Amino acid sequence: MSARLSLTRHGPAEGLPLVLLHAFPLDSRMWDAVVADLTGRDDPVPVVTVDAPGFGRSPRARDLARRLGCPDAPSLRTYAAAVEDVLAAEGIDRAVVAGLSMGGYVALALAERHRDLLAGIGLLDTKATADGEDARATRLRVADQATGPLGARAVAPMIDTVLSPATPENQPDVVRTVRGWLEEAPPHGIAWAQRAMAGRPDRVAALSGLDVPGLVLRGADDVSSSQEDAETMAGALPDAEVVVVDRAGHLSAVEQPEVVAEALRALHARCA
Ligand code: MLT
Repeated sequence: MSARLSLTRHGPAEGLPLVLLHAFPLDSRMWDAVVADLTGRDDPVPVVTVDAPGFGRSPRARDLARRLGCPDAPSLRTYAAAVEDVLAAEGIDRAVVAGLSMGGYVALALAERHRDLLAGIGLLDTKATADGEDARATRLRVADQATGPLGARAVAPMIDTVLSPATPENQPDVVRTVRGWLEEAPPHGIAWAQRAMAGRPDRVAALSGLDVPGLVLRGADDVSSSQEDAETMAGALPDAEVVVVDRAGHLSAVEQPEVVAEALRALHARCA
């Protein structure tokens, strides 16, 4: 396997790409319905999806870190460097980058260190602040559990927190799909990502002076990132629009893909 992240292009080959970075511990399939909407209309948007290190079809983080000369210790900086690397290999040196939750943390890491890449930024169901001690300890425990006998079952309880209370009743298929994705999550990827997220710093400052259009979006029922988190990011960005998605929890893009696609389409139009 090549030591580059797995990248897939969707829709038109020309034009400013919209890069979508997925949530933990999923992969790019999470964006399927959003991508279908963005590319399936009369004015399709060029979209690029990327799998996180160790997820989907991407190689493990340690192989990426070695090739990129990054430290071995899990870090979202390595993930951000690997995104920049795979986009450069595709001839992309400027893009609108939107990430959901963990994907948003990586978009923030890009804002900190690879700012010239960004023609716009979308921060979905995410936050720019660092974890507190309890959250960090939980992540490290889940990382250890994932590489032990529990394996992917270490993340199974997430099914109870990542969806809106409205989703099981209105969209039972979404619950089944997300449960399946959690069961398939690769244990080594879970462990690496949890350790990387545990070590991420506060990146609110990375947003100030980021003079490109921004979107801050959250599911109204998201219990992992709050309205205050969204307002902090929007307040730091010079040019941000805030969107709250009804009947969506943490996985807004999976629960309400058409609404999320509409918001991303509007962000892309502001940047193009
Ligand atoms: C995600 O959806 O990517 C996770 O909830 C991120 C996190 O654990 O902070």
